[in-house]
This record gives sequence, C-alpha cells and structure tokens, in this order.
Amino acid sequence: MAHYRSVGEIPPKRHTQHRDADGALFYEELMGEEGFSSDASLLYHRGVSSALVDSQVWELADHTRTPNHPLKARHLKLHSLETGMCPVEGRRLVLGNNDVRIAYVVTGTDPSPLYRNAIGDECVYVESGTGTVESVFGVVPYRAGDYVVIPRATTHRWVPAEASRLYAVEANSHIHPPKRYLSRFGQFLEHAPYCERDLHGPTSVLLAEGDNVDVLVKHRTSAGIVGTRMTYATHPFDVVGWDGCLYPYTFNIDDFMPITGKIHQPPPVHQVLEGWNFVICNFLPRKVDYHELAIPVPYYHSNVDSDEVMFYVGGDYEARKGSGIDLGSISLHPGGYAHGPQPAAIEASLGADYFEESAVMVDTFAPLELGEGGLAVEDPAYAWTWAGRGPDDPAVFSNS
Ligand SMILES: [Fe+2]
Repeated sequence: MAHYRSVGEIPPKRHTQHRDADGALFYEELMGEEGFSSDASLLYHRGVSSALVDSQVWELADHTRTPNHPLKARHLKLHSLETGMCPVEGRRLVLGNNDVRIAYVVTGTDPSPLYRNAIGDECVYVESGTGTVESVFGVVPYRAGDYVVIPRATTHRWVPAEASRLYAVEANSHIHPPKRYLSRFGQFLEHAPYCERDLHGPTSVLLAEGDNVDVLVKHRTSAGIVGTRMTYATHPFDVVGWDGCLYPYTFNIDDFMPITGKIHQPPPVHQVLEGWNFVICNFLPRKVDYHELAIPVPYYHSNVDSDEVMFYVGGDYEARKGSGIDLGSISLHPGGYAHGPQPAAIEASLGADYFEESAVMVDTFAPLELGEGGLAVEDPAYAWTWAGRGPDDPAVFSNS
C-alpha cells in the first residue's frame, strides 16, 4: 500500500546509527515485498529480530478441502459454528483453493497467541465485535464493519474486547486496492469509492518485555499448509519506531461510498480490494437504479471465469428473499452455472429506490472447494431453491 507512514522514533537517514538514551544501537530490519522491489518498511528493534531459540511443529486446524462435485450452489450458515474460540487457532476453514482461503471464527475475549501468516496477506472482515490487533507496527483498533488488512509475515495478535465474529480471507498473495482506483504513482483517484483518509494504520509503537516468546507461523511446504511454533529470545514487540508503506491497516465498510446508476451497475463498481486471482467487493445500503423501467435486483449472470462467495452481513438481501439466506449466511455460486435472484424478487423489487443490505463478496478465478467448517453448516436444500423443488422433496419451496 503506497501510503507513507512514520511512527515512533526513527533516525533522520535510513541505514544509519540509531541509539537509545544509553547509547545502545537499535537493530534495523527492512520488511519488504517482492525482493527489495516493492513496498517496504524499516523497523528499529531493541532486540535481534532473528534471535530464535527453538522451532517446533504447530499443528494447524483441519485444512482439508472437498471439491464442489457434483457441481451446485451452496448455502453455508456460519452463525451455526461454535463461539468462544481463539481468533487464530479457532478459525474454521469454510472455502478455499490454491489462491485464497476463507475461514470464520467467533472469538471469546481471550487474546490470540502471537501469530504471523507467512503465506500471504490476510484481510479479516469484522462482522461484529470490537478490540485491537497488536503488532510489531503498533496497535490498530477494530470494530464491526472493518476490514483488517495484515501484510504477510507481520507478527501480531488479536485482542478482542468482546466476542467478535471474524471472517478471515487468507491470501497466498498480497491484498491491495484495485489498480484502476490509483494514479500511476499510487494516489487514490477521484472516481474511487474510498481514499487515503479512510485507511487507518497504527499511530504509536507498542513495546513489550519478555523472553522465550512463542510465535505461531503459518507457512507452506510442498506438502501444503503447515505451522511452526518459533520461540524467540526476546519479545518481538520491541520496535521503537518504523516508517514506510508496509503496515497493517483498517478500512470500515461505512466509509465505502457506493456508486449507483440509472440502470443496474455491475459488481466491479462495488470492489474494495483484490489479491492474486480473487477480488473483494461489498454491497452496501444505497439508492438503487432510477430509470423508470429499471429492475433493481441483478439479472441472472453466469460468470464463466469465477466462483462467487457472498457473505450476508446486514439488512435484508433483496435478491435472495425466499431462499433461506439470512444474516451470517454464505452463498457460493460457482462458475459454469448461472445464478440470480429468486424469481419472485424481480417483480417485488420494481419501484424500489433504496436497498438496505450489506454483503461482502469474494470472487475467485479458480474453483473453490469446501472446508470442513463450511460442510458442517451447509443447508443442503439451497441448490434447488430457484426451481422450487429438488430431487428428494418435490415441492417444498414457494419462491415467494
Ligand atoms: Fe452473482
């Protein structure tokens, strides 16, 4: 994210001596992307950031994936998953492929262990709850509606102030605003639905004491995703100052200014962020199409190159009325198959001038598979709700 930030004490010139009041040198670390050729930050540590004293296997939660075969639309009821779980170790895999994984957890108020994801950036949507994310860069508070974007390999921990529903999009890549929102130098353009003022990074450093401190590291081997528990001689939260363009930040969904039109606007106008082979969009309360013959709900669409995941987080999703979709639901509409509103929703939407609905969408460009958490809360009848009848129960849906 090309927006410069400076927090705490840093020397006037990079790669020069920076000392504490007693004359001891701080240890400079460059944390950067794409091999010294992209965004980076320089951090000044009191301890040595590579001072490891132990490395053991960390057994991850079940990452098994089940192909969506035979192919059909899916409805997963995330609010049926358990509560009071660890914000990191308690995540249940809902959907995933080789580019991105979506996991869900309902936390308690215990903080997570120190953790970093060495596979890619994380974008965690906060469905509800408040708290903070502590990191080597300092603290960012979170609240309902925030996307918390945490760069790859950022050591951090979640500290919920109250039970929090977290929808974690874990990429194998970096996550950033769409290029078309940015000038060639990286500033948000006038047509973008949000801008720099809406992004909130750490404002002060966070210093902690400790020795033999464990950090859970999620990473990859040729066998897939694995975990390692790395133990450090001193506490990783020892950064007295840093500057650069790489750091965790939040963006609240209420700060996204929806773009509307005389007729139906396609989902790309609702895009927030993207990573390699996927995009993140949000559909928010907004005025809808104002042509005198407009149909406000979407047309049926077959996105031949993507799987579409909708997470329904607020209001009343007009297009899905009658399908069983509710708050906390996920719908998966896979590529190779058209989808759209419940038939009765089309007529019902005519003349509407405002939709009170909120949903977060992830579109992937490779097929998604079902995680164990998703399979555990699937509504098996969903795929038949457009027809009003399925193979086992010929006429259970009214479509009204
Ligand atoms: Fe769709």
